Amino acid sequence: MACKRIPLAHGRLHSLRRLRASVVFVRTVAVLAVSLQAAGAFAELPEPTDLVDQQHCMFCHTSDAPFLAPSFHQIAEHYRDTPNASTMLEDKLRHGGKAHWGDMAMPLPEDRGGPLSAGDARTLVRWVLSQ
Ligand code: HEC
Repeated sequence: MACKRIPLAHGRLHSLRRLRASVVFVRTVAVLAVSLQAAGAFAELPEPTDLVDQQHCMFCHTSDAPFLAPSFHQIAEHYRDTPNASTMLEDKLRHGGKAHWGDMAMPLPEDRGGPLSAGDARTLVRWVLSQ
């Protein structure tokens, strides 16, 4: 009886070791992913905070989690390979347009906090698409 238990315990120990090895592996991958993300963040343009606050962008959007509106990451991903996307989006931020992400359209600048100049729209869109 006792002899039979030893190989069993041995087996368990081995699988525990294997488990620990894979936990270490997963942790390493996670750390790598986080540092890659941090490296990628250098490519992201700085947030034009005054504009973003004045237009209440973060009232509906977040950078990476869809909330009341698509996240800025989703939007950037969606338009990554679309030529002229920024021109279209700048125009849409200033003058509105058809919703592309469902039924709810984005409010016009006047309802978000005030008129938006072409230059400011450009700054905002470049920032969104860099995320
Ligand atoms: C009241 C909520 C709200 C606010 C405030 C808001 N958005 Fe949006 N936004 C939305 C919704 C809803 C959509 C998805 C509907 C659509 O496609 O127009 C959207 C879509 C977008 C899109 C993608 C449009 C497309 O055609 O794919 C961009 C870019 C965007 N928002 C940027 C911004 C920026 C920059 C600000 C601040 C200047 C802002 N949003 C403020 C709700 C909002």
